[in-house]
Amino acid sequence: MNMKRNTSNEREHWGGSLGFIFAAAGSAIGLGNIWKFPYITGMNGGGVFILVYLFCIFLIGLPIMICEIAIGRHTQKNPLGAFLQLDKNNRLSRSFGTVFLLIGLGFFCFGKYGLGGVFSLIAVIVYYFGWGFVGLGGIFTGFLILAFYGTVGGWVTAYIFKGLFQQLNFETVEEASQVFNNFVASPTSVLPYQIVFMLLCAFVVWFGIKNGIELASKLLLPFLFILLIILILRGITLDGANKGIEFLVSPDFSKLTPEGVLVALGHAFFSLSLGMGCILTYGSYLDPSKNILSSSLNIVFLDTMVALMAGFAIFPAVFAMGMSPDAGPGLALQIMPLTFNSIGDHLGWLWSSLFFLLLSIAAWTSGISLLEVLVTSLIDEFKFSRHQAVMFSTVITTALGVLATVCCTDWSRLPWLEKALVALFGSTNNSMFDLLDNISCNYLLPLGGLGTSIFVGWIWGTHHAIAEIRRGSHQTVDVNFFTLLAGLKDDPNSQEKTHTMTLATVWGIFIRFITPICVIIAFLHAIGWLHFD
Ligand code: PHE
Repeated sequence: MNMKRNTSNEREHWGGSLGFIFAAAGSAIGLGNIWKFPYITGMNGGGVFILVYLFCIFLIGLPIMICEIAIGRHTQKNPLGAFLQLDKNNRLSRSFGTVFLLIGLGFFCFGKYGLGGVFSLIAVIVYYFGWGFVGLGGIFTGFLILAFYGTVGGWVTAYIFKGLFQQLNFETVEEASQVFNNFVASPTSVLPYQIVFMLLCAFVVWFGIKNGIELASKLLLPFLFILLIILILRGITLDGANKGIEFLVSPDFSKLTPEGVLVALGHAFFSLSLGMGCILTYGSYLDPSKNILSSSLNIVFLDTMVALMAGFAIFPAVFAMGMSPDAGPGLALQIMPLTFNSIGDHLGWLWSSLFFLLLSIAAWTSGISLLEVLVTSLIDEFKFSRHQAVMFSTVITTALGVLATVCCTDWSRLPWLEKALVALFGSTNNSMFDLLDNISCNYLLPLGGLGTSIFVGWIWGTHHAIAEIRRGSHQTVDVNFFTLLAGLKDDPNSQEKTHTMTLATVWGIFIRFITPICVIIAFLHAIGWLHFD
């Protein structure tokens, strides 16, 4: 019998490393892998894009993931609490506050009251919270992402039923896009499914870490793999599938554009759930005896494998049926049902429903992780009970998500909101949905990742972070990088100091220099300040 009791304020922990890896992989594997990754691969040249994406994942994503888990496990807190606890250098963050205030005043002087207001608000928050600002920003980003993620979650859930009821048996691309466009433009059709999706997320988070998130991930992830394998087998056994496989595995370097490189980098953040405190939160439930380095490698590996598998589930079928690989965001929701229907085995409805079930499960485990960030923050910082926190977070994110659904393609249902945004900021995105997607993915996630790497590299300090990472993995982090490459793993405990270039050293150099510089370049490109042509 387990004699260790949970007192009410002791933080719950994962049942083991495997529970943590499943849950974090469940967060990472989402719409980003199965819906977005295949279409951006299709639009950016196939194999060569995949190669660049793999570089971004391992060179930038992996080091930041290690940072987030280390911060979370060291502090055992939510993102805001974690950054507040580790921030000892208030003077530096105050000076950042002054910079933001000056930028804000500058915008006011040029009549840009919206941006002036935003920067002044940031200045106040930075003065007040110091580096806690990065954690608070992460929680806010999670709130925005979950809102529009709920909308897409609603679409894919609805499409399971549309498939089952034979409503996706399309004959032409026009027909497929008309059905999709009519569906997303009609809130009364989307909202019930969106609410069901949000309630499913809330249901799992309600039961906490071990009996909720860990259990759900352990059940759902294997199921997701089985579905993917079934769909891959269906795709690659079609006549003409080899053209799709070729498209994925033979990189054509003439198709590599600077634009594509940066799309790959931005997507690496979104896909690994980095830059907003999600992995940090999951890391805060990790036991000190567990190996952070090997867990991170496993999570990154699983996430990447699913993205690649999704490519193999989609492109062979798309090519075999003579469809175009560069259809853009509609690839999953329009081209896939059409592709399945044209296979001609009269089972198109079944393949479509299975495909959307796969998407819904992937979205579900990611939605759960986004909700948990809000829930844990309310529990830690405002002393909510878990159930109160789940109810409150679900209601507010669903409310914002309803706006995303109501204004999904344009602002015609809330013209006053568009007018207000244009009056404040000079312009706005095409719809509330695009606005949420744009602010969170192009701005907040890269900035959150940048803040995290600068914080760990220069404020908390890589030596402190490494001390945390070493707990449970010292045999791994102190191995010499070059001897490891040569396959001659040395003894990390040896007295001779021959292992200066250890894995820890490599990670430290990345986190202080390489990662922040790459993120800044990607960010400046994303906001249009840097062009490569
Ligand atoms: N990683 C998820 C996906 O690939 C999205 C996500 C982003 C989830 C940020 C949590 C936090 O779809």
